[in-house]
Amino acid sequence: MKREQISIPGTAADFEPGEHRDSMCAYRSDDRAVTLYLADCLAVIERLPAESVDVVWADPPYFLSGGGSTCRGGQRASVDKGKWDAPSTVAGMHAWNKAWLMACRRVLKPTGTLWACGNRHNIHSLGFAMQELGYRGLNDVTWQKPNPPPNLGCRTLTDDAETILWASRDRKARHIFNYAAMRAENGGKQMKTTWRFPPPTGDEVKHGRYPTQKPVALIRRALRASLPVDGTVLDPFMGSGTAGVAARELGAKYIGIDLSDEAVKLAVTRITETPASPRVEVPDMTAYAALCDLCDEMPYDEFATMMRDLQVIQRHRTEAEMVRELAGSQV
Ligand SMILES: C[S@@+](CC[C@H](N)C(=O)[O-])C[C@H]1O[C@@H](n2cnc3c(N)ncnc32)[C@H](O)[C@@H]1O
Repeated sequence: MKREQISIPGTAADFEPGEHRDSMCAYRSDDRAVTLYLADCLAVIERLPAESVDVVWADPPYFLSGGGSTCRGGQRASVDKGKWDAPSTVAGMHAWNKAWLMACRRVLKPTGTLWACGNRHNIHSLGFAMQELGYRGLNDVTWQKPNPPPNLGCRTLTDDAETILWASRDRKARHIFNYAAMRAENGGKQMKTTWRFPPPTGDEVKHGRYPTQKPVALIRRALRASLPVDGTVLDPFMGSGTAGVAARELGAKYIGIDLSDEAVKLAVTRITETPASPRVEVPDMTAYAALCDLCDEMPYDEFATMMRDLQVIQRHRTEAEMVRELAGSQV
C-alpha cells in the first residue's frame, strides 16, 4: 500500500488534527506537538526527514525475556515482558540494534543527541553499534533504583541499576547540553552520572503498569539536559509513553512509535492528560559553545583548573560572561 510522506509536527506538510493521512499514525494532538505511530519503528523513522529531531530517547528491548523469574510484591514472578523482548542470537540482536541506531542517526540534527537504555543483556551491543556508526559517547548514566527486588537465585549480586548511554550524532558535532539547568537541578553543583530514582508508582501507574516502564523524573532529567527550546523528541520504543509525558511537561514536541496496540492506547491516555507546558529554560549556547571548544583544545588538567577558577569567580559574574572572557583569553 502506498503511504504519504510523514512529516514531523510543526512543518508545512502537516495534516489537520483528526485527519488520517497515514495508516501507521495512531494519534496527533490538536496542537500538533504530539504524533504517535502504531508501527515498527524502522518503517516510521525511514520516512521522517533527515536532521529533523533534536533528541532520541530509546528504551529498546533488552532481550531478557527468556523464562527467568524475579520477586514482585514478595512473590516469585516471571521476568518475561512480551514477545518483543524474547532473547535473540548475539549476532541477530547486534544487527537489529545497529539498524535502528543507524536509522535514528540519520534523523538527528547535527546538534542532536541520543539516549539509549539497557543492562548487561544489550548494553554492550548498543555501545559497540554506536561506535561502529560514528556516534560520540558523552556519558554512561547509571539509573540506580532504591529497594530493588531481592535476587532469588542467590548466585549473583542483586541488580539495582540500569545504564543509559548518552551520545552525540558524531565526533565533529557540537551537541546541546543544558549545563546550567543540570547544575541548578543538582543544587548548584555539576550534575553527575548516577541518578537515583524510584521505579514508577502512584499517579504514574494509575492506568496500569507497563512492563519496563521508566519513571517520568528520569526521562525528564535526560530531556532537560539535552533539548533546545521548542525541540523535538523521537521515541522509537514508546511503551506507555513516559517520554511523551516528560516531553509534554517540558513543552517539547514528541514523536512516539510502538508496535503494540496496548502500548499506544496507554500512551495516548497518559499523554493527553498531561497539559503542555511552555518551555521556560533558555540555555545560553554561546557560553556553552565556547566551553566545548576549550575543553576540546586544552589538556585535561588545564581545563580542570580553569573550571575550578570558574567556580571561584562565579559569585561575581554571570556564567556567560565568565566563559566568554575565558574563551577570549585562551584564543
Ligand atoms: C522497554 S519498552 C519501553 C517502555 C517505556 N520506556 C515506558 O516507560 O513505558 C520497549 C517497547 O518497545 C516496543 N517495541 C519493540 N520492538 C519494536 C519495534 N521494532 N518497533 C517499535 N516498537 C517496538 C515494545 O512493544 C515495547 O512497548
